[in-house]
Amino acid sequence: MSESTSPSAAPVAATLYGRRILLGVCGGIAAYKAADLVRRLQDAGAEVQVVMTASAQRFVTAQTFQALSGRPVRSSLWDEAAEAAMGHIELARWPDLIVIAPASANTIARLAHGLADDLLSTLCLASDKPIAIAPAMNRLMWANPATQANLHTLNHRGVHQLGPGSGGQACGEVGEGRMWEPLQIRDAVANLLRPTGPLSNTRVVITAGPTREPIDPVRFITNRSSGKMGYALASSLTRLGAEVTLVSGPTTLPTPHGVQRIDVETAAQMLDATRSAIAGAQILVGTAAVADYRSDAPAEHKIKKQADQMALSLVRNPDILATLREADPKLFIVGFAAETEKLAEHAHGKLQRKKLDMIAANWVGAGRAFDQDDNALHVFWPGGERELPTASKVDLAGALAALIAERFHASRG
Ligand code: PMT
Repeated sequence: MSESTSPSAAPVAATLYGRRILLGVCGGIAAYKAADLVRRLQDAGAEVQVVMTASAQRFVTAQTFQALSGRPVRSSLWDEAAEAAMGHIELARWPDLIVIAPASANTIARLAHGLADDLLSTLCLASDKPIAIAPAMNRLMWANPATQANLHTLNHRGVHQLGPGSGGQACGEVGEGRMWEPLQIRDAVANLLRPTGPLSNTRVVITAGPTREPIDPVRFITNRSSGKMGYALASSLTRLGAEVTLVSGPTTLPTPHGVQRIDVETAAQMLDATRSAIAGAQILVGTAAVADYRSDAPAEHKIKKQADQMALSLVRNPDILATLREADPKLFIVGFAAETEKLAEHAHGKLQRKKLDMIAANWVGAGRAFDQDDNALHVFWPGGERELPTASKVDLAGALAALIAERFHASRG
């Protein structure tokens, strides 16, 4: 089993993974903490482009940020080589969020007055992306009515303010004006980037793809699931504001934007990973095509061909959804049903036996559903049903995600 980030960082990583942060660094002793911030953002999967003011470079070198971020640091409007690679207007369009940390009193004043006399202030003026500032300055500069008026102007324009905190300052004084700690800023940045929607503040775990049950070191039992349905659903649920963890069997698909992915192979591993992932989750969706049986004794060495016939002895795998329903009666669980006959009857049977809140049934076999780009679903829940006609799995996932959100909220009254 492998995981892209530590479980404790999972919700933050789910939001920051693949997001682009333009980090503006201003002059001030707190500039050294911005180096740690780069690391923290990158650890959560964000891409970071650093832009330094001239004064920032008196405190920390551009080389430090370049080495940490893996990207050339930008600091001048007049650097021809850098402008040729990515012009400042292009740079202003690049990020999902501009974060200025530390934000000096001087830069706050320049932003408030709409100046464009260095690269950072020009980028902010030329960008329609959200801006967050983490102020850091001496307590008297912070309390000065000029600074407070500038902040008032920026807050009024929708600039997000992260901090400051109070405590001992580099100048020996004690008071307000300390920059927030990097982890605090990272978490606030993740909150700002979290999509809002009907599943905001909701954690969803979704299983997807096939499982592989080993027969010997080189052979396994599996099925034709590609993971397309589950990955599309993970993506759609994220767009509704959910924090999504995807527990995936082997697929060739890229991890959807903003989704935390845990890779597994066997049904037993999928059960273990899903059991851990549902801690703190409200919704579990089972799109995975889990092998119902596994070899009771996988051979230690490659099986040699000898007899004309051979029989495999198989044992039942645990049912992941039914097991986790027993473990957590309050979880909203959505199952899938893959049927070649009596679709509604079998789906209803699974809904009841596994004590699910909803089940999305699809016809399979004869080239349907498995490894296809299109699908159709008939969704059932106690006392209701809805048909989602044939569409691309991406569109179908959007419709199913909206229905899951609707039924989930209805179930919570
Ligand atoms: O991956 P794609 O190529 O895009 O194909 C999508 C799909 C056809 C795999 C998908 O739409 C689908 O139908 N997934 C469920 C496949 C399946 O195994 O269905 P089932 O009827 O056997 O299982 C019923 C439910 O119990 C499913 O939610 C399944 O995840 C779950 N289950 C099954 C067995 C098991 N041991 N544990 C389980 O939790």
